[in-house]
Amino acid sequence: MPAAVTGVCYAIDGKTLIDHVSCRLDGPGRTVILGPNGAGKSVLLRLCHGLLAPTAGHIRWGGASPVETMHRRGIVFQRPVMLRRSVAANVEHVLKIKGVPRIRRPALVEAALAQSGLGSLGQRQARTLSGGEQQRLAIARAWLLEPAVVLLDEPTANLDPGATRAVEELIINLGATGAKIIMTTHDIAQARRLADEVMFLHHGRLLEHRPAAEFFAGPRDPNAAGFIAGELIT
Ligand SMILES: Nc1ncnc2c1ncn2[C@@H]1O[C@H](COP(=O)(O)OP(=O)(O)O)[C@@H](O)[C@H]1O
Ligand SMILES: [Mg+2]
Repeated sequence: MPAAVTGVCYAIDGKTLIDHVSCRLDGPGRTVILGPNGAGKSVLLRLCHGLLAPTAGHIRWGGASPVETMHRRGIVFQRPVMLRRSVAANVEHVLKIKGVPRIRRPALVEAALAQSGLGSLGQRQARTLSGGEQQRLAIARAWLLEPAVVLLDEPTANLDPGATRAVEELIINLGATGAKIIMTTHDIAQARRLADEVMFLHHGRLLEHRPAAEFFAGPRDPNAAGFIAGELIT
């Protein structure tokens, strides 16, 4: 399901948050939207999913609108929202919504928890999980919907290195099933580890969109060069 983003702007209260972004997302692999805090990464991801509507321009997924195609994508937010139920019940809820017959659910729940390294935590209250475990549960829930595309917004913000590694492995495994991964991060090291292609966003503008190896070898945009050199760009 390729995406075509054409001249997309998003403005609110007279402030332009996304400024004429155009791009195509039609390759396989992991696309990382990289940029400093406040660049507009979360807003762009929400526009792509249809949670916000552009104030100019348009987005098409395989020719259809983001809202029409929402069911074919999974989204994982920076702070996952857990139902006040057990871990297993959080997973089962997704299957129920999907219309999976009750009798088939336990095996699928077990498989999803095993896959995400949560096999021993099924009966725990989901809201008592650590940040990293909650993020893995959120990814497992998205995975169950067998999405063509998974959008992840700063999935490891606030996680320690061990928890970050576990979440990154899960993202890699999810991508290996054929799902297109589109994720945001402000973490340059994470972009280096995960990106097949980089979209560098700054002040709502898409300044670079290139294969990751090329981008890191020599960013063309001075802001991008400064950012990956560790400067505090403004
Ligand atoms: N609903 C909103 N109303 C006003 N400003 C917003 C709104 N949402 C985001 N912003 C602003 O837009 C800019 C980009 O936000 P965001 O997409 O969250 O950045 P990022 O995810 O790259 O850190 C920020 O300056 C933020 O304060
Ligand atoms: Mg954000």
